[in-house]
Amino acid sequence: EKEGYAHFMIKEINEQPKGVSETLNRRLNKEGNIELDSIKITKEDLDKIDKVYIVACGTAYHAGLVGKYAIEKYAKIPVICDIASEFRYSDPFIDENTLFIAISQSGETLDTLAALREAKRKGARILSVVNVVGSSVARESHDVFYTWAGPEIAVASTKAYTTQLTAMYMIALHMAITKESMSKEKYDSIIEELKNMPEKIQKILDDYVIAQHLADTQFNNESVFFMGRGLDINAAYEGSLKLKEISYINSFAIAAGELKHGTIALIEDDTLVIALATQDRLYEKMLSNIKEVKARGAYVVAIAKEGNKEIEKSADTVIYIPDTMDELTPILSVVPQQLFSYYMAVARGCDVDKPRNLAKSVTVE
Ligand code: F6R
Repeated sequence: EKEGYAHFMIKEINEQPKGVSETLNRRLNKEGNIELDSIKITKEDLDKIDKVYIVACGTAYHAGLVGKYAIEKYAKIPVICDIASEFRYSDPFIDENTLFIAISQSGETLDTLAALREAKRKGARILSVVNVVGSSVARESHDVFYTWAGPEIAVASTKAYTTQLTAMYMIALHMAITKESMSKEKYDSIIEELKNMPEKIQKILDDYVIAQHLADTQFNNESVFFMGRGLDINAAYEGSLKLKEISYINSFAIAAGELKHGTIALIEDDTLVIALATQDRLYEKMLSNIKEVKARGAYVVAIAKEGNKEIEKSADTVIYIPDTMDELTPILSVVPQQLFSYYMAVARGCDVDKPRNLAKSVTVE
């Protein structure tokens, strides 16, 4: 039931603080350390694992891209993240020293399931991150990490994504502490910050009028560009997918450094550009990219961390997310993008929960 919300999508966007909190807190023991239920990946197992494949489709794939970043940074194991329908028809480097991670909300996506079976046949250890308990992907995996998002009804995935991100950070942290590739202090500090995420998401949700107002002034656009660098580009991929699937606006996301290799040719007066600039290390670079598109007439909406006043000089509008560690920003920066997509679709009179041509679970090729 929609419980007073106009659509399932906005209800589910609002359920994210709870979903993230459940996903995290159910797996923290009383010492505050991560315990991955029945998942028993020992130090010996991890020492053997020389690479990780993360395979998924759509939004789950976007969560995988962030997972790749977290596992490489925390656990220092190389990760390949692939789209399930591509993985199946490539010649992946899989053997018994590979950890294969499938991410799927429904656990029934055919391409993801087929990729999992192929990896299993080649001897990989299979860990899946799944929302639906007892689904096919879960049943066929050696280990399962359930995201506690609760049932996701809207076709456009929202709370599944933020809980998948939470899961990937936890898996990466667990691998890192088991492998001893991270200090306990660092591990504790990241868990502490993950615990703050529900409250920080809530803060963005409380300010929904910012996204709503932006949508009310921008809904007539027929194309929107998203750009970012580092982790921001991954959150931008997800923001762009949300927008196109429910509002039918032609949108795509590019790594901001790629602008001048082609895409900048499309920028003209009043082109809407959503620029994610949450990464401290890449901030100056993003400022130059914002200036580049502004110089061609773009209308720039920046998403930045609170306290960053300087960006107001470059962007036309700034949406702030609460301050956090750079590596955790996707959990927050996706939220204003979800809200923006939702209000764009509403303003355009689209069928938000059931967009045309799409199904909630893709069980065909
Ligand atoms: C987008 C969306 C899809 C799914 C994709 C994978 O909003 O919902 O891109 O993420 O079809 O589905 P699952 O996670 O069920 O395997």
